[in-house]
Amino acid sequence: MKPVKINAKAQIRKELPIGTLTGLSSYRRPPEPAMLVIFGGAGDLAWRKLVPALFDLFKDGCLPDYFAVIIVDALPLNETGLLERFRGGARRFAQHQIREKDWKEFGSHFSYFRADFADKSAYTQLKRLLAGLEQEWERKAVELFYLATPPRFFAVIVDMLGRAGLARERNQSRILVEKPIGHDLKSMLEINRTLLSRFNERQIFRIDHYLGKETVRNILAFRFANVLFEPVWDRRYVDYVTITVAEQVGLERRGSYYEGAGALRDMVQNHLLQLLCLIAMEPPVSFEADEVRNKKVDVLHAVRRIPADAAWEFAARGQYGPGTIDGKKVPGYRQEPGVAADSNTETFAALELFVDNWRWQDVPFYLRTGKRLAQQVSEIVIHFRQVPHQSFPPEAVVNWLPAALILCIQPQEGISLRFQAKKPGAEMILEPVSMHFNYGDAFSEPLPDAYKTLLWDLMTGDATTFMRADQVEAAWSILTPVLEYWQSRPATDFPNYAAGSMGPEHAEVLLARGGCAWPSPTLLPANQSDAAVADCRFEPAAGK
Ligand code: BG6
Repeated sequence: MKPVKINAKAQIRKELPIGTLTGLSSYRRPPEPAMLVIFGGAGDLAWRKLVPALFDLFKDGCLPDYFAVIIVDALPLNETGLLERFRGGARRFAQHQIREKDWKEFGSHFSYFRADFADKSAYTQLKRLLAGLEQEWERKAVELFYLATPPRFFAVIVDMLGRAGLARERNQSRILVEKPIGHDLKSMLEINRTLLSRFNERQIFRIDHYLGKETVRNILAFRFANVLFEPVWDRRYVDYVTITVAEQVGLERRGSYYEGAGALRDMVQNHLLQLLCLIAMEPPVSFEADEVRNKKVDVLHAVRRIPADAAWEFAARGQYGPGTIDGKKVPGYRQEPGVAADSNTETFAALELFVDNWRWQDVPFYLRTGKRLAQQVSEIVIHFRQVPHQSFPPEAVVNWLPAALILCIQPQEGISLRFQAKKPGAEMILEPVSMHFNYGDAFSEPLPDAYKTLLWDLMTGDATTFMRADQVEAAWSILTPVLEYWQSRPATDFPNYAAGSMGPEHAEVLLARGGCAWPSPTLLPANQSDAAVADCRFEPAAGK
């Protein structure tokens, strides 16, 4: 291990300059002194997400008074080169502009340790370094160990941290684990056993970055801070729910990881099931981390098990072939670097799930995600039932569509409510119209990146937006029959959707047989004047 000197005066701010904050009131409480150790910190995650988010927190005056970032990786890098690379990432992804003076000060809190993750002596030196910082700062600091490495290193790092006595202090050290947490239920349990052999559950922060997204956090506010919607949020009024996370992007140089993962593991096991939990959970008694997580895990426990021998009835898979996106030709999955020419990995997955409880009995929840789809859009649509009795004459309801509530997660950020209105004129003709809430119109603050929020939560020790072991376990259990079914019966029709389409036909069939349909992505108007133009691009559900 090659230790590099850390700025002896790693002190960012003595007093919190309230006036310079960007209005993110939740970020006002300054966290305790902190030492953030990022294992695998020379990789893409630190470059793209962690360092830009830290820089934004720094610029907002929201890092603790005493702060150090120690990057641990096996690559032969020097600190100057690494910081230069980080600067490139921050320039692209941070919300604040990079000014030389700020970057210099920010960078002075970083150091690089070249280390083999399995080298015992590296951890002894790390321990010495952390103790040295505390001595210099003359105060205790939280030790935050961030595992931004491929999962195969989790066990060895955790074990070594434990052996070096770096996991012992329950209130003083935390470990953050990036997804994927395991490859299946068995390997997840294994990783968990390893984590728990050295750390207490309260010290473990399992990240799902979707939970840090502002529009995702807003689901709780929308549902539980308004008396309006909760009374209709159940099987009496909701016909079905669709959750779409569609990506236009392909593999982005992650072929070797993705080949072993696929859409179900990469997206559904974590992000989509977490969205399902937020939509289907009961109201929490308080916003204590465990209370919220208890309510969420109840949903996962209530999900009806998919029969292992008939998974195809509830799950659709796809793999993209060559196609065109936004007028540009893109290669098929099997032509991507790092992908086998006969790969059977799915790049699209759709599920039909049921939550067996009083609130949701027999209401289908449809989840879909895929790469290289026609549009980049994440949204949740609550499709309400038809009115029990249609009293309007047939000519009045030619364009009639059931009411729907659309929670737009990204890239548009807001909420839209579709309902019926009378079209102006002598006759009673009904037309669907929409009311929109758009973050950009309602708030002047930019939406923080998910990692900024999650790093803040990690520093302040708030685990509400992190996954507890039982949630991860329950999520894997739901998917196990599908994973096993797919593994034992390789797809014979791959590639079965063209890049630039919305996925394979089977995903449409899953819904169509119940008289449901995937909605076309909703367009929120960019500003209030456009809001007058109702946007109703829903495709009528067959038979509904
Ligand atoms: C990651 C997946 O967890 O989420 C990626 O590994 C995916 O494959 C990404 O592209 C999507 O995140 P976001 O925030 O861009 O929707």
